Amino acid sequence: MARSLRPLVIGNWKMNLDHVEAVHLTQQLGVLLRATPAEHADVALAPPFVDLRSVSSVVESERMPVAVTAQHVNPHDSGAHTGEVSVAMLRRLGVTSVIVGHSERRQNYAMTDEVVAATLRAVGVGGLAPVLCVGEDLELREAGRHESHVRAQLESAVAGLEARVPETLSVAYEPIWAIGTGVSATTEEVRAMTAFVRATLGALGFADSRVLYGGSVNADTAAELASAGGVDGFLVGGASLRADSFFAIVQATSGCYAGQR
Ligand code: PGA
Repeated sequence: MARSLRPLVIGNWKMNLDHVEAVHLTQQLGVLLRATPAEHADVALAPPFVDLRSVSSVVESERMPVAVTAQHVNPHDSGAHTGEVSVAMLRRLGVTSVIVGHSERRQNYAMTDEVVAATLRAVGVGGLAPVLCVGEDLELREAGRHESHVRAQLESAVAGLEARVPETLSVAYEPIWAIGTGVSATTEEVRAMTAFVRATLGALGFADSRVLYGGSVNADTAAELASAGGVDGFLVGGASLRADSFFAIVQATSGCYAGQR
């Protein structure tokens, strides 16, 4: 099915690269994008908090067509939240979108469905574009409960969202068993679940949202997933830590969508 949304490719660096390395990688990407612009895809980088200012400075000074995304944010406006940062702080740094509810935060940092919903709301109210992550673990997949799990995650996350957020909301379907394992979901699995996420979002009033896939996407698999997987882009972890592999994914995505606009 031809989709009408411009795809988005986000590089999620996780807890990798200090600010010096971040500047270097962003500059390398800038050189590649200047030589061969990604005409049919939006590109975003999600570095660690401490790199955000450096990355946005490079993006600004080199006039790169790249958005700066945060990996996480605290839902509160301000106050006694040691170690946390707010939406307003991110906005001041030139950040335009925020990943919300990545499975690593849900699993390892006690990010419950309630906190995910509160964070999604705070990001939307604060005028940034949320990238909500959903996805099942292997046990749920093997038990055939992946759809009900993802539906429940979507329903609880968007419950408190304001009506003006839909156009800016992206949802990344990221099966936990495919993250960082080198084993991507198959094209058919991606196609089925992105269609399911899209239908569920439509029923919830968020039909205009992009649906991305994440989980061991690399330069070799991106084109096939983009053309036959029914996705509106990718959330890329490991393969975003090198300019050449991330750039290849961006180009593969842009190339797949070139004929559809
Ligand atoms: P991966 O990570 O590409 O390294 O599997 C994806 C993610 O966690 O967003």
